[in-house]
Amino acid sequence: MSDTVRYDREGAVAIVTVDNPPVNALGHAVRQALVAAFDRFEADDAEIAVLTGAGRLFLGGADISEFGKPPAEPSLPDVIGRIERCAKPVVAAIHGAALGGGLEVAMGCHYRVALTGTKLGLPEVTLGLIPGAGGTQRAPRLMGLDAAVELMTTGKPIEPEKAQVYGLIDRVVSVDEPRLAGIAYAEQLLAEGATTRPTRDLPAPDAPKRDLETWRELLEQRHMGEIAQNRAAEAAFRTLDTPFDEGMAAEREAFLDLIKSRQSDALRHAFFLERQVSRLPELKGVEPREIASVGVIGGGTMGAGIATACLLAGLSVTLIETDAVRAEKAYLTVSKNLDGAVERGKMSEDARRAADLTTTVEYEALSEADIVVEAVFESMDVKRQVFAQLDGLMKQGAVLATNTSYLDVNQIADATGRPQDVIGLHFFSPAHVMRLVEVVVADKTAPEVTATAFALAKKLKKVAVRSGVCDGFIGNRILSHYRAAATEMVLKGASPYQIDAAIERFGFKMGPYKVADLAGLDIGHATRARKGPQPGEVNPDWDDRLNEMGRLGRKTGRGYYTYDDGTKEDPEVPQIIEDIRAAKGIEPRDFNETELVERYMTAMVNEAAKVVGEGIAKRPLDVDAVLLFGYGFPRFRGGPMKYADHVGLRVISDRIDRYAAENPEFWQKAPLIAELVERDGTFEELNT
Ligand code: NAI
Repeated sequence: MSDTVRYDREGAVAIVTVDNPPVNALGHAVRQALVAAFDRFEADDAEIAVLTGAGRLFLGGADISEFGKPPAEPSLPDVIGRIERCAKPVVAAIHGAALGGGLEVAMGCHYRVALTGTKLGLPEVTLGLIPGAGGTQRAPRLMGLDAAVELMTTGKPIEPEKAQVYGLIDRVVSVDEPRLAGIAYAEQLLAEGATTRPTRDLPAPDAPKRDLETWRELLEQRHMGEIAQNRAAEAAFRTLDTPFDEGMAAEREAFLDLIKSRQSDALRHAFFLERQVSRLPELKGVEPREIASVGVIGGGTMGAGIATACLLAGLSVTLIETDAVRAEKAYLTVSKNLDGAVERGKMSEDARRAADLTTTVEYEALSEADIVVEAVFESMDVKRQVFAQLDGLMKQGAVLATNTSYLDVNQIADATGRPQDVIGLHFFSPAHVMRLVEVVVADKTAPEVTATAFALAKKLKKVAVRSGVCDGFIGNRILSHYRAAATEMVLKGASPYQIDAAIERFGFKMGPYKVADLAGLDIGHATRARKGPQPGEVNPDWDDRLNEMGRLGRKTGRGYYTYDDGTKEDPEVPQIIEDIRAAKGIEPRDFNETELVERYMTAMVNEAAKVVGEGIAKRPLDVDAVLLFGYGFPRFRGGPMKYADHVGLRVISDRIDRYAAENPEFWQKAPLIAELVERDGTFEELNT
């Protein structure tokens, strides 16, 4: 028997244990060994078998690194078929997790016992796929169609107690040892004279509460634009009237279609880049500094959120404000955030009690902090003053970080005598919720300071992306540019509502004007004032007008939309825009949705390519991560660079040429795009 699968006996019970650390993934060697183990069980005089996993979980999913390669026999469906065909009963003893392929194997066993706390799920849709080893055919037969479709289309795991109610699990036990739980259940089954119970032979499920059409509508609402959910539901519905083997063939066909789809490619890209972003050659072998205590300066929107994120990760936090009233207010905000986290199960009661937060007006309280994150007003003077003060009192080796959104980190660093310790840590609002942190590496930042920033982000469970210094870093710089493309379209005739609707149908959670309302129109206004006119960009005079009117967005109840009674369009806004067009003598023209999306996306890709070409982002995947985790870019499209590769860089390049004919200054092609088109390259090939 191989190392990865063990076979032993306990009386009449044969025990097959998969031991393939770290997650018992169902790679080729394990699949071969499983077939061998069940062949042996059939030949043996054991009367019943238990299949279990060693370590922290039952079985992992398919080995994702085998995707796209020629299938190596036996395939997972073959292995599951082999187990299901055993002439003697087989019990799955499940602990930790059975997700994807792991659950499909369990469903191919004849009986299932799960330990309390186990996670059971079919998350394939999160990679743009459907279960491909019989999950779509076995789950409905075991648990009914509605529950099976819910499990497959949300991709979210369920608890064994719930799974037992549906019939997916036969028994739930509260013990530590899956092996012992499996043996006990197997012995009971033997005593009861239980026989095999192949899931494939179970009767077709009952008619579901929702028919397929109703499911389709619901899925369109929940996952607009995504295709895998629909294919999963269709496959599952076949169990109503299609024999098992035909259902399996249809499942396979759908799976193979999906694995070739752009959406699955994009979702797998999104999945992998979460790990890839922190793998930077410059950090190889560099040891981060120790971080246990954090100082936060400023307890406003961002400071309170950053303090919350650090406390949730078990770090002790000292927060500095300008006066006692603000310090107290910040204390209350953070406390409320933490209480909310406890309510939502994100923090234990014990951890809440242990949360170590001090708010004060005394800067000296920071003298022993390992790192300080500054989140005061976005003003270079204020920030330089704060950093000069920190320089005088922080211990040697402490990291001095700024949460600035746009300002030059080099200038901030130069306010200190230790620029090597200064770095940007650009969190996103709300900082205890949003996953992205841009790590802004300045000219003199020491490698171990960068490594420390990445280590801290990891502790906070954030996705950290390295950025160089430029106005707005990776994300806000690109945002400014595609916002400007939207402004150009509004001036020429599009309405902000039309743009929002188009961008939301493309898959963004919110269009740019809803985002502007959320951030506050004063923020955009201040940024425009600071930067001054940009080449080829038109000023959104209507936005200035809304600012003058005190319509600053959600916080004042009105901006582009009104918020008294849900989010509503306001006829006053198009009128303001129309007046401005008329004053400039602009005859509005129609924009269709395709053109709106293409212009918006092309502006995003073009600026993103400049960001990569200039070395602000090291790789295209860094840009994708920023847009996905900080700007609501639709995950099933994989980020702007993945989108561009899918559309084709030549197409992007031609679009830029076309738009440039109207406004050459704004639509200056990124040299990187020109270069890649010239040699028929892709952004993907720069991701190494
Ligand atoms: P805010 O106005 O809500 O909070 C700033 C806080 O800093 C105020 O409570 C103020 O009393 C305090 N403060 C000012 N000077 C101080 C000093 N010398 N010492 C101690 N406390 C001082 O501002 P917000 O939105 O939290 O922004 C802070 C920083 O974070 C800015 O640099 C901003 O650009 C950046 N940022 C903001 C984001 C947002 O969505 N609001 C997102 C990412 C970064």
